[in-house]
Amino acid sequence: MKTMDTVKIGVIGIGNMGASHSMNISAGKIPQLELGAVADGIPERRTWAEQNLPSEVRVFDNGKALIHSKTCDAILIAVPHYEHPALAIEAFNAGLHVLCEKPAGVYTKEVREMNAAAEKSGKVFGMMFNQRTNCLYRTMHDIVAGGSMGAIKRVSWIVTDWYRTQNYYNSGKWRATWAGEGGGVLLNQCPHQLDLLQWICGMPSKIRAFCHNGKWHDIEVEDDVTAYLEYPNGATGTFITSTADAPGTNRFEITLEMGKLVCENNTLTQFLLAENERTFCKTALGGFDRPPQCAEKIIETDGKNEQHVGVLKAFTAHILQGSPLIADGKEGILGLMLSNGMHLSSWLDTTVAVPFDEDLFLRELNKRRENSRSK
Ligand SMILES: NC(=O)c1ccc[n+]([C@@H]2O[C@H](COP(=O)([O-])OP(=O)(O)OC[C@H]3O[C@@H](n4cnc5c(N)ncnc54)[C@H](O)[C@@H]3O)[C@@H](O)[C@H]2O)c1
Repeated sequence: MKTMDTVKIGVIGIGNMGASHSMNISAGKIPQLELGAVADGIPERRTWAEQNLPSEVRVFDNGKALIHSKTCDAILIAVPHYEHPALAIEAFNAGLHVLCEKPAGVYTKEVREMNAAAEKSGKVFGMMFNQRTNCLYRTMHDIVAGGSMGAIKRVSWIVTDWYRTQNYYNSGKWRATWAGEGGGVLLNQCPHQLDLLQWICGMPSKIRAFCHNGKWHDIEVEDDVTAYLEYPNGATGTFITSTADAPGTNRFEITLEMGKLVCENNTLTQFLLAENERTFCKTALGGFDRPPQCAEKIIETDGKNEQHVGVLKAFTAHILQGSPLIADGKEGILGLMLSNGMHLSSWLDTTVAVPFDEDLFLRELNKRRENSRSK
């Protein structure tokens, strides 16, 4: 039997992101990955494809037609979030591999069905969590997972450097509406940070959040969020985000038993104690003694940060050689559980235990979709 030496991929949705993926693939930036087809419902986008992509790339006017065209081995889904699960399920049932843009979907109930379809098909399923290729976050992940700094005590991520103008929100019909997008900064800008948060620190068991809708922009969804998290080991966390702070901040700080990791301004700093703080606290003789801090150092990483191209390379290599993915598709549900949990907590004005009632979440979301402002 002839073994596959290339993967043909079809990109569904060639707006901002899909066009960029199509250009990267057709420029040959991913060895052994070929662009077989693209699809978009908007005629101008298809004209763009005909004018800018190689002539052999087939162009379809909808994702389903591409999936059933037998032109590709895999698809890359780059359409608005609500449509991700349905297209992925259609592709798995047609025997195709799937790489899905973030977020996995808008609500976890449907993403669970997507994960089940992936499992049943046996096909490769990856998520476009390109921030996992960033050397700083990979290093944080490895240090925490390696256990040398002990258990996590506190997590704090302020990511308020997602500044967006009113013009941005006016630029797309689906953007920033409950019916079109299913959320605001949590669903559009933060899926990367929410994935990294769960990838590096694990999942919290409780969430209390305050999401302010249209606080800084004329939009119906949230543009300002403060969330408090509790983890199974007793650690606590905060996640703060906004699209209106100028200048914004991006500071991800994890305090552990052996010190602290701080990722800010493209630098990862480690504060490493000589002794475990928990042991020190219980055994120190003086009331005001402090754990001796032995080192504050900027961590050297491998400097690699391949972003979207890196995710595509790993997806292709996984199909052809079985090497690891950057992010397994089935992990997409975890970051979405965080944002769904934050929304639900804010809507109900209460603390939400994780996992939460997914039917209740969908009922609450649907209320907002029914009253969504049409653009
Ligand atoms: N990974 C990242 O860094 C990153 C960055 C930006 C956007 N995204 C994600 O990519 C997705 C798309 O975002 P965008 O900014 O490119 O949106 P966009 O509106 O610019 O493009 C979406 C395109 O999909 C097309 N489309 C919708 N339904 C379709 C269907 N069924 N078949 C074919 N085409 C269809 C639309 O006509 C549109 O051209 C979103 O889920 C977003 O979260 C990811």
